[in-house]
Amino acid sequence: MKVIAISNHKGGVAKSTTAANLAASLALDGHSVLAVDTDPQAHATILLGCDPAEIAHDLEDVIVHGLATSEAIVSTRIPGLDLLPASLGLARLDLALVGMARREDRIGRALGRVAERYELAVLDLPPSLSLTALSALAAATHIIAPVSADRLALAALGTFVGWLNEFRSEDVVHAEFLGVLRTMTTRGSRATQATFEALQGSGLPLFETPVPKRVAVEDNVADGVLAVEGAGPVGDAYRQLAADVLGKLGAGIGA
Ligand SMILES: Nc1ncnc2c1ncn2[C@@H]1O[C@H](COP(=O)(O)OP(=O)(O)O)[C@@H](O)[C@H]1O
Ligand SMILES: [Mg+2]
Repeated sequence: MKVIAISNHKGGVAKSTTAANLAASLALDGHSVLAVDTDPQAHATILLGCDPAEIAHDLEDVIVHGLATSEAIVSTRIPGLDLLPASLGLARLDLALVGMARREDRIGRALGRVAERYELAVLDLPPSLSLTALSALAAATHIIAPVSADRLALAALGTFVGWLNEFRSEDVVHAEFLGVLRTMTTRGSRATQATFEALQGSGLPLFETPVPKRVAVEDNVADGVLAVEGAGPVGDAYRQLAADVLGKLGAGIGA
């Protein structure tokens, strides 16, 4: 099972939107996929059709209370896509991890128990430098960092990449950085252009197709559907992302 973490240390850059649409697109493409929500805000859980107030179990039950990982997993409306959801109580996981031995291994070990069942896992991460985020990054085989078209998101990316390198040199994070995904871009906007140029100059790998900013995304949330469940430029961009990810993972998928 390949484990793709969607991460950047800033809220509002479309991490959860990306995680839900990428996971759904990969599943609609015929792959067996587990979406994992590691953010107590539970946005990916909501986007995938679950009410966090009605979630019976989350990663905290698995890691802290010894629940079997498979017991926490629910199916979604999308064929081939299961979800390990977040409840609002997931915030307690971070506190519990503080006192645990080998805490950075915990999410990886929890996911390892269902690794035979899925080709791919897509993890939505919280926008923080938390122990939960570190444990999720340690579990990842690949990382995608969404960056919205503004300077603050770019600054957050710099912090994130520095942090990643630190934990890589400590042998905690081993994931391959698949690329930066530009999100909420507007053609002809100076901020979009400036972000693009800065990213090009950064030397970081970039996904070629940006995800455009569209009000339809908010309408989708209100309607309880994902962009990749319909037609339109945002769905197209996420379908392209899924294809690019599969291309980059290549023959290794399923191993
Ligand atoms: N392409 C887009 N166009 C317009 N709005 C978007 C787009 N992608 C995400 N959004 C909206 O931006 C907000 C933040 O997105 P979200 O995925 O929750 O970000 P994060 O997980 O990084 O905090 C949400 O309200 C979401 O619906
Ligand atoms: Mg989010």
